[in-house]
Amino acid sequence: MTQTPAIVVLGSLNMDLLLRVPRVPGAGETLLGHSLQLLPGGKGGNQAVGCARQGARVRLLARIGRDADGQALREALARDGIALDALQQDETEPTGRALVMLEDSAQNRIVVLPGANARLALDDAALARQLQGAQYLVTQLETPLPVVLQAVAAARRAGCKVMFNPSPMLPLPDALWPQIDTLVLNEVEAAAYAGGEVATPAQAAAAGRALRARGVAQVVVTLGALGAVTVEQGGCRFQPALRVRAVDTTAAGDTFTGALAVALAQGSSLAQAAARGVRASAVCVTRIGAQVSIPTAAEADAQPEALPAQDLP
Ligand code: RIB
Repeated sequence: MTQTPAIVVLGSLNMDLLLRVPRVPGAGETLLGHSLQLLPGGKGGNQAVGCARQGARVRLLARIGRDADGQALREALARDGIALDALQQDETEPTGRALVMLEDSAQNRIVVLPGANARLALDDAALARQLQGAQYLVTQLETPLPVVLQAVAAARRAGCKVMFNPSPMLPLPDALWPQIDTLVLNEVEAAAYAGGEVATPAQAAAAGRALRARGVAQVVVTLGALGAVTVEQGGCRFQPALRVRAVDTTAAGDTFTGALAVALAQGSSLAQAAARGVRASAVCVTRIGAQVSIPTAAEADAQPEALPAQDLP
């Protein structure tokens, strides 16, 4: 496919309060932090930016509050050329916020206050128009589950493929799995949804096979610094990660998801798309912050080639 891929992202927008700390405090402990920054984030916004910077035409379905955070998020997304005609503004709830505690060790811990994200509501007729011509709907779980299910059903009706990133984890209805074309999830989510431990490529492949048995067409399990495992009808493959010095993994999964969606929409195989995701997320983790860390296609291209993927039994 040579034309520009078109992707619709449904998801959250948060202003991230990035609190840099030597380490997270224990219960009852007070610590001195290094710095506090307000930076654009939210899984929906991050994945939209991830798609846009990889060259896709992107429309974002999301909701902000009528406040300075919402305005700052809107301006940041507009700078990436993301279509915001379906961006909603809540009159009473504030824009979502996320407290991101980033340790010197590069470990992070995130708590989200959904605010306006929790009041996102969609209309079937508008959805049909918004999805027209899109190759993929990309969505996660920081917006209400009924709205996600509504959009997935609308995407199926519109002939638009569904990429689903079940984060943060929620119990999901059985009827959802067969409606997912590409499921992207990390090792913690894969273990929770499939059962069993997921720490190695072989365990990720087993989890992916268990999720395919529920009706998902293809599964990608990300394994952090190890890489990613793809599971599809033709078999399972392990794509090793690039070796980089990580300073902040915030939005690495969102970057991976965005790059994966664009590569698939461009006609790449699942294994090629995972290699693309690995290269893009390798850049993201070397920078601090969510949307500000997401690389362009040129920046991902400048990375060394990922090690070749290996077939898994
Ligand atoms: O995936 C990273 C994102 O999770 C952060 O930007 C934060 O806003 C939370 O939604």
